[in-house]
Amino acid sequence: MIILGIETSCDETSVALIRGNKKNENVQLLSNIIVSSLLLHAKSGGIIPEIAAREQIKYIIPVFEKALEESKLQKENIDAVAVTVGPGLIGSLLVGVETAKTISYVWKKPIIPVNHLIGHIYANFISKINNSKLIINNSAVPEFPAIALIVSGGHTDLILMERHGRTKWLGGTRDDAAGEAFDKIGRLLNLPYPGGPHIERLAKDIKKDLYSFPRPLIESDDFDFSFSGLKTAVFREITAIKNLGNKTIANISYSTQEAIFEVIVKKTLMAAQKYNAKSVLLGGGVAANNELRARFEFEIRNLSTQMRDPATAGKLEISFFVPEKRLCTDNAAMIATAAFYNYKSIPWQQIEANPALYFD
Ligand code: KG4
Ligand code: ZN
Repeated sequence: MIILGIETSCDETSVALIRGNKKNENVQLLSNIIVSSLLLHAKSGGIIPEIAAREQIKYIIPVFEKALEESKLQKENIDAVAVTVGPGLIGSLLVGVETAKTISYVWKKPIIPVNHLIGHIYANFISKINNSKLIINNSAVPEFPAIALIVSGGHTDLILMERHGRTKWLGGTRDDAAGEAFDKIGRLLNLPYPGGPHIERLAKDIKKDLYSFPRPLIESDDFDFSFSGLKTAVFREITAIKNLGNKTIANISYSTQEAIFEVIVKKTLMAAQKYNAKSVLLGGGVAANNELRARFEFEIRNLSTQMRDPATAGKLEISFFVPEKRLCTDNAAMIATAAFYNYKSIPWQQIEANPALYFD
């Protein structure tokens, strides 16, 4: 089955084609074109919704054409269209939804609405990324039950996935998302937007957690997060410093990363243990961070070793999956893949953008 996916929930415009194989549950990436208006927002320090949507109107047709061309397919080969219906910016979502409706109507193809957050989880089910997955045992496709952590600019959510189509939200941030905390702290440090990748770059050569910022809710026995207090703590620290030199910025970057990652890794593993997860899946822009990827790999390996049962000698209990970096941030391949595994088409007249869509 060939699915054409469309993703326009924030500043990216993306169209992808995937081939899903029902027999062996395998998803092959045929093309995945992503264009972003990020540079146009860099000066303002955040996404300007009006600008994002205007650019998406310009990009969507060329991106669609390029994705088709790269896949070497014709409209006859396509079985269905999948589109992100939310959550996201309303103007941006509408560009994708209206385009998908038009394709569905004109080409007479079924249309499948996809929740963007579920899409992030499904980036882990794309086969082409096998060699860049940090697989601890040899399973190529995540096994259930799985715990998924979505860490992006807008979300920090922990999800229990019992099977395809059956997800349970376990907890999430009470205020700022992890990526949002990186971006806000980046701004305090005079770093360009978005702050996350710059903080990672600056923290790379630091070895010591000099500032030891608070780890919000690390001891709570729920699966909630809170990162706005961390931003306030960093703000206080910065205002007390006379000269914000490069070394200080690097040290604060490192300590910020430590504080955020310690909390999200601990809570994710807590959920994995509680629900006897066979897999842990990461998704969202922050999952592109090398330190976070390495830390998860290390901690899961440790935990799996501790949990090793003599009866299953040699077999590790939890597999860790993280998409290749370009599939961590927003893209249409993950949307098409989510639609393949959760194939529920509806009449095109019923498809609606829903900016506030969340989990069931
Ligand atoms: O998933 P995404 O592309 O868009 C949303 O749906 O929000 O995530 C963007 C977020 C931004 O907050 C950005 O700072 C963060 O992901 N991010 C990172 C890294 N790359 C992107 N955070 C930490 N380290 C990175 N390498
Ligand atoms: Zn996203």
